[in-house]
This record gives sequence, C-alpha cells and structure tokens, in this order.
Amino acid sequence: MVCLGNICRSPLAEGLLAAKVDPEKVEVTSAGTGGWHVGEQPDPRSIAIAKQKGLDITQQRGRQFKPADFNEFDYIFVMDSSNYSDVIELAESESDKEKVQLILDELFPGENVDVPDPYYGGNDGFEQVYNMLDKACTSIAKRI
Ligand code: 4NP
Repeated sequence: MVCLGNICRSPLAEGLLAAKVDPEKVEVTSAGTGGWHVGEQPDPRSIAIAKQKGLDITQQRGRQFKPADFNEFDYIFVMDSSNYSDVIELAESESDKEKVQLILDELFPGENVDVPDPYYGGNDGFEQVYNMLDKACTSIAKRI
C-alpha cells in the first residue's frame, strides 16, 4: 500500500487489508514515495478513525518505498495518480510495472479515481478515505 507520506492513507489501507486476509498466507505492508515520515507513527487522525472502527494501527512505522519492494511483493496498490507515476519511475522491468495498480481501480476499473489526500483537511476526510479503502480492501482480499 503506497501513498505520499505513509502516515495518512496507506497506513489505513495496510491495516484494513491485513485485517481481511489470512496472515499466514498474505503479508501486507505500506510505504510512502516520500521519506519525510520514515520511522513515525501514522497521523493521529488516521489512528483515531481506525480506532473508532475497531482497527489498531499504532504499531505501524513510516517507511519509504524502495525498488527492492518490487521483488518482495506481488501487488503494489497506490492511492493516487501521482503515487502511480512516482512508483512506476522506480520500476526496472515491465513485470515490475504490471504489479502497480491504483487502489480504487478495484471499485471503478479504468476510471482513474484517486484516494484524496486528507492531510490538509479535517476529520471528515479521514472517514471518507477509511470508507473507500474499506470497500476496496474487501474486494482485494476476495481476489488475492
Ligand atoms: P499521505 O498524506 O500521503 O496520505 O500519508 C500525506 C502526509 C504527509 C505529507 C503529504 C501527504 N507531507 O507532505 O508531509
């Protein structure tokens, strides 16, 4: 699960998908394309909405997406088209590129819908993001 800062959107996506799959079979993690928040906990507003919905994401720590992640993971879900370009730029092969998907393509195939960045907005934005990621992760969990 990849976003820009790895403190707002992708930690929610990581927590949601991890809760919907068998941990013995599927490893889920998240990263940011930027490195500003490496080692940090998710944004308090993401922690709060997750907690309100029964999900604990406080153990997560920020990390930056790195090219080796293409070898480590089978699927790379990005939150918006800017994350998509940033990750694709680090790809070293066509098979790397094929792993990268806009996460909302899961619900709206081919429509290029972004998960909006809630960082500069209010708490409502975090709940909206949570709800869209919840639906997308349910679909991903069924498929993989
Ligand atoms: P995220 O939101 O990509 O959903 O984690 C952001 C968090 C921090 C920053 C940008 C986006 N930032 O510029 O620090």
